[in-house]
Amino acid sequence: MSLQPVGIIGTGKYVPERVLTNRELEQMVETNDEWIVTRTGIRERRLVSAEQAASDLAYEASVEALKQAGISAEELDLIIVATVTPDMAFPSTACIVQEKLGAKKAAAFDLSAACSGFIYGLATGSNFISMGAYKYVLVVGAECLSKITDYTDRNTCILFGDGAGAVVLGPVEEGRGFKSFELGADGTGGPLLKVPAGGSRCPSTPESLSGKDHFIYMAGSEVFKFAVRIMGSAAEEALRKAGLEKSDIDLLVPHQANIRIIQSSLQRLELGEEKCMINLDKYGNMSAASIPVALAEAVEEGRVKEGDCLVLVGFGGGLTWGASVLIW
Ligand code: UT7
Repeated sequence: MSLQPVGIIGTGKYVPERVLTNRELEQMVETNDEWIVTRTGIRERRLVSAEQAASDLAYEASVEALKQAGISAEELDLIIVATVTPDMAFPSTACIVQEKLGAKKAAAFDLSAACSGFIYGLATGSNFISMGAYKYVLVVGAECLSKITDYTDRNTCILFGDGAGAVVLGPVEEGRGFKSFELGADGTGGPLLKVPAGGSRCPSTPESLSGKDHFIYMAGSEVFKFAVRIMGSAAEEALRKAGLEKSDIDLLVPHQANIRIIQSSLQRLELGEEKCMINLDKYGNMSAASIPVALAEAVEEGRVKEGDCLVLVGFGGGLTWGASVLIW
């Protein structure tokens, strides 16, 4: 059986208007602009309003992606939303987006793989198309991390931002589209990056609220070491599966967590910064939304041409990682 080639036929992004600068953070916790810029590369990030939830951001990004793809919401067969900040435990954010878009025939579900969620979503969605089950799949990474960030914790509050990125997957001609996926997980590292309360292990209680257990906990330097190791190896493994070399890469679109992590990946992949999409200075780490927002901006800026070899790579809570090679 020959498989249908699948690619990205439309991209979109949405970031909320409110900008939170390093200078403002200086007023909130004991930190400074110089430390944040040199240790992370982040200058500002976007924050949702009290009324906005993940589905609102996802909807805006999806409308843009559908427009670029030139298809209507009614044509979608499946919606996958990767998020760690769903509107609520259930119904899924994907179902809420389905209703907002009017994507009446689309199946819909959320996917939980933290910052790797978008790559996991691409792998899942593209398989439905390559096997012939579906034609068009919407994959969204959408996060309102500000709602689970403790703005008295300088270890985390300087890093995270809100936003959403979306792509439409569909059939493409032979030779183009996804060439490989490399997904992985190491549950032993789960305690390094988590929101301890609000699930069935530790439901919401007055104690969990006062203990700030509904906010992100992160062992930063442990996650950093893991990230430096896994970004390069996941990208290399995806290239090997695709039968391509590091020198074939035209553009790397990495998870935007820390400029030092990105720089070490570039070194390992023997790439110059001109071959890498970097926008974390403007948005910080948007978890599952980071890669699709960076991709949508690369397309907007004309940095992606037909036939280019792109490598998308990310890592995150779980611990999880994911990489994909695609020909645009
Ligand atoms: O999407 C995946 C999620 N997470 C990540 O990718 C995060 C990965 N980790 C990182 O990016 C880095 O580990 C951080 C940016 C979180 C921290 O940078 P670091 O270079 O690993 O710093 P550190 O935690 O080793 O701390 C170094 C020093 C400490 O002071 P002492 O003990 O040396 O006196 C910290 O207390 O920097 C201090 N520090 C700060 N200083 C000013 C930690 N946070 C801050 C801050 N401002 N915001």
